[in-house]
Amino acid sequence: MLAHKLAVVTGAARGIGLAVARDLATAGCKVLMVGRNAEATEAAAARLQDDDLDVLPHIADVTDASAIAALAARLRREFGRVDILVNNAGIFPETRDFARPPPAASVFAVDPETVTTTIECNAVAALRLLQACIPLMRENGYGRIVNVSSGMGQLSEMGGFWPGYRMSKAALNALTRLAASELAGSPIKINSVCPGWCRTGMGGDNATRSAEEGASGIVWAALLPEDGPSGGFFRDRQAIDW
Ligand SMILES: NC(=O)c1ccc[n+]([C@@H]2O[C@H](COP(=O)([O-])OP(=O)(O)OC[C@H]3O[C@@H](n4cnc5c(N)ncnc54)[C@H](OP(=O)(O)O)[C@@H]3O)[C@@H](O)[C@H]2O)c1
Repeated sequence: MLAHKLAVVTGAARGIGLAVARDLATAGCKVLMVGRNAEATEAAAARLQDDDLDVLPHIADVTDASAIAALAARLRREFGRVDILVNNAGIFPETRDFARPPPAASVFAVDPETVTTTIECNAVAALRLLQACIPLMRENGYGRIVNVSSGMGQLSEMGGFWPGYRMSKAALNALTRLAASELAGSPIKINSVCPGWCRTGMGGDNATRSAEEGASGIVWAALLPEDGPSGGFFRDRQAIDW
């Protein structure tokens, strides 16, 4: 059954996205690994192919509208379907030292351009990808969309500092709720998932989880059964507050 599922994972050349791509392919999906760096994305895909996993690289910068249009065209032309979309690609360009927030990370000091750039990648690109995939999901009567979010985007627990990243993930969570509302009653599910603090380029060496541990809840949401939830925010498969 899963052998027929086509999954698109963005930011799949490294970190959590690479772990998600590996796990979905291991579960029997064909995975299109989307990355903006051709060399790194092709090398990552080749490593998984060496392990007999059914993956293909696809080069696209998710903030480039024409690149997403080209991805949509490839999905229709080459596969005629897309069953799973994992919006994982993300950036956190603000200076971060979680133990001692630097003054430049204050909402009163941050460069608004940094906020715009972060929202463009972490939220607006996810919107574009969703719009690229929804028509095929509707035609084929199946869809699972996972927006890889963060506890830092929780309004209920919003702390200070890092406004670009926090606002981008709050916006991504709003996208989840908006889409879930319009998809109610359809066979397409969309959820936000926080992977926890993971040892990746973004999370740094002091993080408490491996990329593989972070990927686990994302893969769960990508493979939800028909009676699974939609429109929720999850960490470790448990619902968390928005
Ligand atoms: N690590 C954590 O502790 C943590 C916690 C909560 C949420 N998250 C979320 O988990 C997701 C993955 O994070 P990570 O820790 O794996 O980060 P990472 O190691 O920094 O990897 C980020 C990935 O996103 C890709 N990417 C960034 N901008 C892109 C663009 N414009 N087009 C295409 N790809 C792009 C990167 O590609 P390049 O290699 O080309 O840069 C890279 O593959 C992110 O959405 C992040 O916000 C992470």
